[in-house]
Amino acid sequence: MMIISPSLLSCDFAKMGEEITRMEDAGAQWMHYDVMDGHFVPNITVGAPVLKALTKKMRAVADVHLMISDPLFYAKDFAEAGADYITFHIEADSDPVKTINRIKELGCKVGLSIKPKTPAEAIFPYLKDIDLVLVMTVEPGFGGQSFMADMMSKVKAIYDEVRRIGRADIVIEVDGGINEINIVEAAAAGANAFVSGSTIFNAVDAKKIISLLKERAKEAYPKEEE
Ligand code: DX5
Ligand code: ZN
Repeated sequence: MMIISPSLLSCDFAKMGEEITRMEDAGAQWMHYDVMDGHFVPNITVGAPVLKALTKKMRAVADVHLMISDPLFYAKDFAEAGADYITFHIEADSDPVKTINRIKELGCKVGLSIKPKTPAEAIFPYLKDIDLVLVMTVEPGFGGQSFMADMMSKVKAIYDEVRRIGRADIVIEVDGGINEINIVEAAAAGANAFVSGSTIFNAVDAKKIISLLKERAKEAYPKEEE
């Protein structure tokens, strides 16, 4: 199944709850929640208390992306706020093994993310212990940037590696600048979860764009693995 995870960073912040319902009704299975601390990235967004309020009536899977320096310390707050997946960056200050174990102990699925300059191989040692890999297709920090097509070789390398180690169940997610055109490249490279902020929230018809994204991803995804 191709997963669409609209990034709340692009929604109307004055109506976050309604925006989530609108996306769920439009067919989004996940909701992407970007957390930035003004230290790991040069921007500050929202934290655990806002997530807690939103997850109370959220049906979609809460896909939390921590762009923060100390995910080990803050993981508990997000788990208690209702996160389903907690994804942190390999480039953060926290020890990756300790952070992976902590997130699992808290009862959440765990994702590991890489920034554009980090090679795919950096996460290979951790793959057997995680549920999701998030390949950034923009420099993290802001919505509305352009998709970096040269990240697709990393997606393909991860797709091949998870199969080599018998972990084809690991979700491969891409994040940044995804639209109805480049989703074809991302899915063809092996991504099966797609974060999309500005494309979905700027669309006149959210249902139409989400259906189109799913359809194009499904068509382009490597056939033998369907
Ligand atoms: C960037 C965030 C993304 C971003 C996606 O740092 O992690 O989730 O908001 O938004 P678009 O699709 O507009 O690039
Ligand atoms: Zn994100």
